[in-house]
Amino acid sequence: MIGTDVAHAAALLAQGEVVAIPTETVYGLAANALDPSAVARIYEAKERPSFNPLIVHVSGIDDASKYVNNIHPLAQKLATHFWPGSLSILFPKKDIIPELVTAGLPNVVLRVPDHKTTLELLESIDFPLAAPSANISNTVSPTSAERVEQGLGDRIPYVLDGGRCTVGVESTIVSVIDDEVVILREGGISKEALEGVLGMEVYYKKAEKVIAPGQMKRHYATHKPLYLVDDLMAAYEQFSDRKVSMLLWTDTDLTCTHRYFLSRSGDLSEVAINLFEMMHQADEDDSEIILVQRVKDHGIGKAINDRLQRAAQDW
Ligand code: TXA
Ligand code: MG
Repeated sequence: MIGTDVAHAAALLAQGEVVAIPTETVYGLAANALDPSAVARIYEAKERPSFNPLIVHVSGIDDASKYVNNIHPLAQKLATHFWPGSLSILFPKKDIIPELVTAGLPNVVLRVPDHKTTLELLESIDFPLAAPSANISNTVSPTSAERVEQGLGDRIPYVLDGGRCTVGVESTIVSVIDDEVVILREGGISKEALEGVLGMEVYYKKAEKVIAPGQMKRHYATHKPLYLVDDLMAAYEQFSDRKVSMLLWTDTDLTCTHRYFLSRSGDLSEVAINLFEMMHQADEDDSEIILVQRVKDHGIGKAINDRLQRAAQDW
């Protein structure tokens, strides 16, 4: 069921239920992060492997300090500047955070979502919310309550509707290790924005074994083949005998079976906002394949290319 009743969502969560919640990035599937059996319901509803840890959502920095052991000055600086917002930060966890949330890891990832409804919800409850994206694992993330309902509606009691997400790709995840800030997953906050605030270089972590499904190669997948290309015109010609949907980010005369404009002006924030919704739409139409041209690889464009790359993997 979809609704806008924050008190109802809070009551369900307090009973150990899962509830989908709006954030500025994507919708999350939330449960009481301090209650292992509630957290287990998230893994079950999403069909998420339990070795993949969850982000915990808190209402502010003070709230965060209840769950983590020491807040490094660089993390403090980032949190002060970017929270509420699309930055998730890895901290050494206190024992109160169950191992199921962190998949046995000693650290927990926290963020404060920049969404009025969910901040109101977080302030009305006395526990933090573990919440991965509100989709079945490895499918396209939802940026509206309707898309959550479509994917998970028969598995969860309530979707708290907060409208369309205003960022559209998941949060950036960083860790602070040895006085260095390292990006574990690209997302809504760019490397450049982090560096601007810190006044120092920020690094990328090359995926090792663990950690993020953001780091599993194939993720965010559509049901039909999606090809990420550098030369749209060449791909268009290559597939001229097929029914093609194109996700476009500039105005163009190119015609095909279906066209979806992520943006008409190349505005990357606009592309991010529309990306997952238009992937859903192209996946549902009567085309055979989806074509997308890689966007400029700077700012939020890095996160956009990352999601598209994973969606395009293995076709
Ligand atoms: O924008 C977002 O971050 C959204 C909204 C709902 O807040 N959430 C989200 O969650 O994208 P999810 O589960 O789809 O992605 C969380 C990522 C995963 O790649 C996970 O592996 C990583 O965060 N992660 C969570 N806790 C971690 C930990 N303790 N150590 C390392 N990685 C962690
Ligand atoms: Mg996800």
